[in-house]
Amino acid sequence: MKRRSEAQERGVASFFADLREDTPRPRVCRGTACALAGATPAPGDRGAYCLGYCDRGPAQLNAEGHARGPDGAELPPSPAIRALGPALVTERVATGDCSGLEAARAAGVWRTLEQALARPAGDVLDAMIASGERGRGGAGFPTGRKWEACASATGAKVVIANGDEGDPGSFVDRVLLELDSHAVLEGLALCAFAVGAEDGIVYVRGEYPRAAERMERAVDEARATGWLGAGVAGSRFRFDVQVRRGHGSYVCGEETALLNTLEGLRGEVRLRPPYPTESGLDGRPTVVNNVETLVNVPWIVGRGPEAYKSLGTEASSGTKALCLARGFAQPGILEVPFGISLREVVEKHGGGGRDGRAIRALCLGGPMGSVSPPETWDVPVCYAAMRESGLELGHGGIVPVLEGNDPRALLHHWLGFFADESCGKCAPCALGSSRSLALLEAGAARAELEALLDVIAAGSLCAFGQRLPATVKTLLDGFGDGIFGVSA
Ligand SMILES: Cc1cc2nc3c(=O)[nH]c(=O)nc-3n(C[C@H](O)[C@H](O)[C@H](O)COP(=O)(O)O)c2cc1C
Ligand code: SF4
Repeated sequence: MKRRSEAQERGVASFFADLREDTPRPRVCRGTACALAGATPAPGDRGAYCLGYCDRGPAQLNAEGHARGPDGAELPPSPAIRALGPALVTERVATGDCSGLEAARAAGVWRTLEQALARPAGDVLDAMIASGERGRGGAGFPTGRKWEACASATGAKVVIANGDEGDPGSFVDRVLLELDSHAVLEGLALCAFAVGAEDGIVYVRGEYPRAAERMERAVDEARATGWLGAGVAGSRFRFDVQVRRGHGSYVCGEETALLNTLEGLRGEVRLRPPYPTESGLDGRPTVVNNVETLVNVPWIVGRGPEAYKSLGTEASSGTKALCLARGFAQPGILEVPFGISLREVVEKHGGGGRDGRAIRALCLGGPMGSVSPPETWDVPVCYAAMRESGLELGHGGIVPVLEGNDPRALLHHWLGFFADESCGKCAPCALGSSRSLALLEAGAARAELEALLDVIAAGSLCAFGQRLPATVKTLLDGFGDGIFGVSA
């Protein structure tokens, strides 16, 4: 790592919430699902956005890093997991714990890499381009095209699994990291083989200590058995992986902020271009992919792009693991082929609202997603179709807002999240986020808040400042009367 001045060291130490604490303390989850369930951190508890148990909260993390449920008992990794049709992402985690090498091998993990290594690397790249898979981290960028850009760049390359999963309401990456750790590594290794990288990193958020431990164990096992290292599986392919832990910052899930963090800098977003595929970690061509994106890769390469494209829609091939929060009658992970209607997900498979309560809206896709009222639910689950209808699927977390939930508390939650998590790089978001919260708390008129949100959306550097105002505005459109007493 490069030498840093004292000012830079202090800048980093003051940026990350975890580094400001001498000893870890218990933290109550204040993600959207837990907040709607009434979780409030006690004075002195800085809370956590979010711990990834949205189906079973309110959750808390004790000082030893164990997640506990409302009854105080340790929360096991797995939620209820179902699939409507082929389970590309959840097949193994639905049947148990495949985090250890023996269970992973018995379930067929690493076999696709072994077969792929016997063929040219270009075959893997071609399969990924032909599959049309879109990245699951939120933006929906085609995976094959990203890999192609990195493969054709010059320099020593690096590939990164983004296990930050910061969106409150999403928990599938936590489950995959904890229960299908070798599949994450196999997807990353296929990516490295395709683009010509020898170095890989799995970045795991600080709020997921069990996921980091299991990934560390999987890396050790894979190294000891020749699935990582020099001459992977007896081939000439060399690839090794490090696990790096985050320190408590939502924006570090944004790929360029993540790169800064890995370089020992403040987790601030970088200006683009250059894109990471051209100049990423330490200036090297870099692929950053979401964990769920990578777990799809062995399936796609193993069964072929045509099999993958036969699932889903023209614009969004394959399946999506949706995360249904505890406000549903049937919460958990639901893997669906793209194209199913949102209404079917909510009313049939989610079972409607918990305890028979009506669902007034859905918080879809986290802070950069949407607030979706019932009249929008006939849209198919598909990146393109949803975008055309003004909705964003994001990473696929769905938190229902139930009859009886306080819309003002929800607005306070989102504006508080905005103010707490802005990375501070650009003024519209850095200043506007805390000003928005102050306006709400001071009882300002709705029009004043909306005018400020418009400025933030227009002037911000990254999707956090550009998109969060839209989420807040759809909340105001749906519940403004209840929040402000007047509609404008
Ligand atoms: C504020 C912000 C936070 C993000 N957080 C995450 C995250 O936690 N996990 C993730 O995979 N992508 C996150 N992203 C998207 C990443 O920047 C990037 O697009 C993604 O990791 C690429 O992987 P994919 O192509 O497989 O989706 C975030 C983006 C923004 C703007
Ligand atoms: S919009 Fe917010 S999170 Fe994004 S770069 Fe600007 S300050 Fe950072």
